Amino acid sequence: MIFEPRNITLKNGAVCTLRPTHPDDSEQMIDYMKRTAGETEYLLRYPDEVNYTLEQEQTLLRRLMEEPHTVMMVGIVNGEVAGNCSIGGFGEKRKLLHRCSMAIALKQAYWDLGIGTAMIGYLTELAGKIGYSQMDLEVVADNVRAQALYAKCGFVPTGRRSRALKFDDGTYHDEIIMVKYLDQEVK
Ligand SMILES: CC(C)(COP(=O)(O)OP(=O)(O)OC[C@H]1O[C@@H](n2cnc3c(N)ncnc32)[C@H](O)[C@@H]1OP(=O)(O)O)[C@@H](O)C(=O)NCCC(=O)NCCS
Repeated sequence: MIFEPRNITLKNGAVCTLRPTHPDDSEQMIDYMKRTAGETEYLLRYPDEVNYTLEQEQTLLRRLMEEPHTVMMVGIVNGEVAGNCSIGGFGEKRKLLHRCSMAIALKQAYWDLGIGTAMIGYLTELAGKIGYSQMDLEVVADNVRAQALYAKCGFVPTGRRSRALKFDDGTYHDEIIMVKYLDQEVK
């Protein structure tokens, strides 16, 4: 979906623009995906699994801009994609329409500047406007940085998926399931 760009001032004084991802961002987005996949173990893909062509990425970003129940947001600092976050629904079944799934990742150079907090704040507003009543996510159990951010932003842990991930080094990792309720009354 399309939403209003929003400027935020970061902890280092730089300005970051939060805006919808555009097909023109495709080259930068592919670079961002490869880079973040190599900078942290806590994303699902390894760098060699980022195989989108420029054309595929352009098509995807164009489709996501038109999709009314999906938010695909970038944070731009000095013309560079610093990070990306998204919410998306679970399909058309009525029993699932209240839920969306949230994802976020920033390039390491942009960690700890407040972008994550601002992105989740804006995503929360947009999720409410779309009509979602909760945001769901899964986070690797060892990823204390992300869990600290989510807790600060109002997510609560609701479960654990044992051995959800197996890294290339052969180690297994659990995932924590977290939820942020957007309505007052939780049933
Ligand atoms: C997780 C991530 C999105 C956080 O974004 P960010 O912009 O760095 O977060 P913010 O700067 O808004 O806030 C982070 C908060 O966590 C706290 N924090 C940072 N590192 C921490 C740590 N190791 N332990 C506990 N808390 C920590 C900070 O103090 C900060 O809180 P504060 O602003 O109240 O001081 C970012 O680090 C990232 O992209 N990581 C790699 C990808 C990833 O793990 N994505 C999540 C997958 S589920």
